[in-house]
Formats: sequence, structure tokens, C-alpha cells
Amino acid sequence: MSVQSEVRRLTAPDIRARKGGEPIVCLTSYHAHTAAIADKHCDVILVGDSLGMVMHGLETTVPVTLDMMILQGRAVMRGSRRALVVVDMPFGSYEASKEQAFTNCARVLKETGCGAVKMEGGTRMAETIGFLAERGVPVMGHVGLTPQAINVIGAFRALGRDVAEWDRFEADAKAVAQAGAFALVIEAVAEPLARKITTYVPIPTIGIGASVACDGQVLVMEDMLGLSPRVPKFVKRYGDLGPGIDKAIADYAAEVRARTFPGSEHVYPMKAKKP
Ligand code: KIV
Repeated sequence: MSVQSEVRRLTAPDIRARKGGEPIVCLTSYHAHTAAIADKHCDVILVGDSLGMVMHGLETTVPVTLDMMILQGRAVMRGSRRALVVVDMPFGSYEASKEQAFTNCARVLKETGCGAVKMEGGTRMAETIGFLAERGVPVMGHVGLTPQAINVIGAFRALGRDVAEWDRFEADAKAVAQAGAFALVIEAVAEPLARKITTYVPIPTIGIGASVACDGQVLVMEDMLGLSPRVPKFVKRYGDLGPGIDKAIADYAAEVRARTFPGSEHVYPMKAKKP
């Protein structure tokens, strides 16, 4: 009999069942090693398309490809054991039709082994989300600020600060929930709107810049660790790793130049000669 105890990975239904319960902790990760650390503390690891900006230095998430998401999704799956891993569908991989969405979501699920996908958009994506959910693809919705729409919206800004704007966002949230999404990211909306949406949608809301009223929170790991040069108002910096990395690399460079690294303790000695 095996003595190994298997860690059970959280599933989309587990997260769905957390509505109104213990807050859901979600963080982005794009690599195996950071995923292993996040896995100890988080319920959900999001392989966000923010990787285009954070890892690749792109100005927006628009150029991110499905292959980039699959590569990093696989790394995160290898590094984690317990958290539900959700992979973002990048711009252009799911909007054309529900069939296109199914083909590409199936590729993501098969090639990464992740437990769910995320896609941006409210009412306009409802039919697709329903189609996917009926065919075995758990979908996390994403409403409010949708960064993939940057070329239409013009700039990243907080939304719903005027009640006149609310109808659209409320309709989006309702449509995504009714379509069968298991959870909903709400990005950069005023607190009262996030609270209202959280109260009436039956699925957990996961806020990013949407207040403590949400059922859970998500942040971009590099933003909260102090590794991103510019961050939105809603980011709290829980660490300041930039100066530590800077010092470590400066010390390394200085020691290489001074020929003090590698020292004798980092060198392989010859085998002792047999008598
Ligand atoms: O891509 C991402 O990291 C995201 C979060 C900001 C929610 O979508």
C-alpha cells in the first residue's frame, strides 16, 4: 500500500462553493518556482496575460499569444500541487466565435493540465461562456476594466465612479454568472459597485482594485513584491524585492571582476589518488 498522501488540487466547483465564505486568495504566477511558493498560501494561481507586460516588457496585453500562455501555464502546473490554476485566454483566441473559444480553451486545458480558463468580457461573452461550461470548460469571467480592450477604451482608468455607468457593469456581471462562469474577476471599479455586484451574483467575485467587499482578491505577484516600476493605486506592496535583487547582482558582478568568485568552496576538487 502506498504511504504517499496525495495533495488534492482545488477545483472550479470548490472555488464556486466559497461564495460568501472564507475569502479566496488568488495571485498571479508565470513560473514553476514562484508557483511553488504561491501554492503554499493561495487557493487560486492565475497565469494572467499580464505576463506580456510583466515578463516580456510589452506595453499592453494585446500581443500575448496562446503559445505564450500555454508555455507558462505548464510551468505553473509543474510548480504547484494544491491551488486551482487558471490560465488567461489571450486577446484574439476566443472572441471570434464560441467554436473558436472551445478549440483554444480545450488546447489550454489539454496542454497545460490547468483546471480552468479566464476570459474578459461581460454580456458579449455570455453565449460563449455557456457553450464552454456545457462542454467541460470551467470559465472565470472578468468584467469592469478589461485590459485587452485597451485599444477601444483608450486608457486604464477606474470605472463605475459615477452611478450613471453602473447599468452596463451590473448587466455584464449578471450575464457572465447566469451563463455558467464559476467565478468572476472584477477589475478597477468603485467600491459600492463591486459591493452591489458581489451581493447579487451567485458566484464568487474576485476583486483587483474592487475593494474588500469582493469574495476574494487577486494581485499581480511582481506588483505586490515591488518588482514592477509603475503600479496602479489598488496595488499594495507587500515586499520590496527590487533593491535586494539589485544588490545581489551588484555584489556578484563586483566579485567576478575582483576574481573573488568562485571561491574554493564553489570549485570541484580532483578525486583523491588511490594508494
Ligand atoms: O492578467 C492578469 O494578471 C489578470 C489579473 C490582473 C486579474 O487578468
